[in-house]
Amino acid sequence: MESLFLAACRGQSTPRPPLWLMRQAGRYLPEYRDVRKQVTFLELCKTPALAVEVTLQPIQRFGFDAAILFSDLLIPLEAMGLPVVFTEAGPSLPNPVRSAEDLKRMAIFDPWERTPFVYETIRVLKDKLGNTPLIGFAGAPFTTATYAIEGKTGKHFIETKKLFHRDPETAHRLLGIIEAATRAYLLAQVAAGAQAIQIFDSWVGVVSPEEWDEFVCGPTQSLIAAIKATGVPVIYFPNGATTLLDRIARVGADVYSIDWRLPLGEARRRLASGTSAPFAVQGNLDPALLLGPEDRLRKQVAKVLEEGGGKGHVFNLGHGIYPETPIANVEALVHAVRGN
Ligand code: CP3
Repeated sequence: MESLFLAACRGQSTPRPPLWLMRQAGRYLPEYRDVRKQVTFLELCKTPALAVEVTLQPIQRFGFDAAILFSDLLIPLEAMGLPVVFTEAGPSLPNPVRSAEDLKRMAIFDPWERTPFVYETIRVLKDKLGNTPLIGFAGAPFTTATYAIEGKTGKHFIETKKLFHRDPETAHRLLGIIEAATRAYLLAQVAAGAQAIQIFDSWVGVVSPEEWDEFVCGPTQSLIAAIKATGVPVIYFPNGATTLLDRIARVGADVYSIDWRLPLGEARRRLASGTSAPFAVQGNLDPALLLGPEDRLRKQVAKVLEEGGGKGHVFNLGHGIYPETPIANVEALVHAVRGN
């Protein structure tokens, strides 16, 4: 029998929705913090034995219905030629791309050669996961481009917007390089054994409808089409962009991951107004509800389950779990979704 997770991604009815959480391997877990004490974050991403261990931690503890490769969105950007450092304040790219000249420092790369640790991690995970499906991932072209241009996690994304509007040709070329590199990087994840792919567009909530149409839609659509052609389901996460869901539906994903800003039923209607193709939804509990108290958490879980409708629904958070989340609340969430 196909897993609950893959069935829901295909739009099928499931006895209960499958459950996994964005950032499910991370700092809210004491066993993650133990591993992290021994190595830097990038070393953790690049050491298959350790990346495997932390990927499995939330599966072993909570029995989630899917595992997600432990890595980071900035790994392919480094492989494209932009050095990345992680500090207490978050990621930083010391040499951002803000002109046609800067673009010469970026190139499409051979994923097997430049990021072999990703594929080794997937290979070992496949062996250890049994029936639990493995999700591979990458950043969407826009979100990855914001890191290349801003050099860090943006606030107002001024540099990104300046490049888009002052030098649209360079912006298109940058997005094209990122799309092509990400495509090869993700196709190799599928070849190594990933059974679904999630594309994180964490910061796309800052684009206008016109910017979406002119810059963002095309490369996102091409990337999704190339991955879908392998037969694995593609989940697209347009964080903060529920106002654009009619346009977003044109990217052709199998599953749309919805943030907490709109009930899933309304999200489905907005998406359906932009496409005649079938799709599933993922989400969308506000991760802040995991900070307690439990009665309010349970009430909102029940609402998300009802909105999800029991068909083509993958239960998840509206964005990543916060590091300060108590383990007991994650356990309560698991029980609430499983109905026990
Ligand atoms: O979901 C999972 O459990 C898989 C692991 C995963 C990480 N990063 C681990 C991580 C995934 C899927 C990502 C993707 C990622 N990375 C995104 C998109 C997802 C999202 O949240 O929207 C983004 C924007 C990044 C870039 C990034 N990495 C930032 C901004 C930061 C710093 C902020 C923070 O949360 O620390 C990271 C670091 C990071 N990535 C950590 C983890 C577990 C924390 C590093 C540590 O251990 O100190």
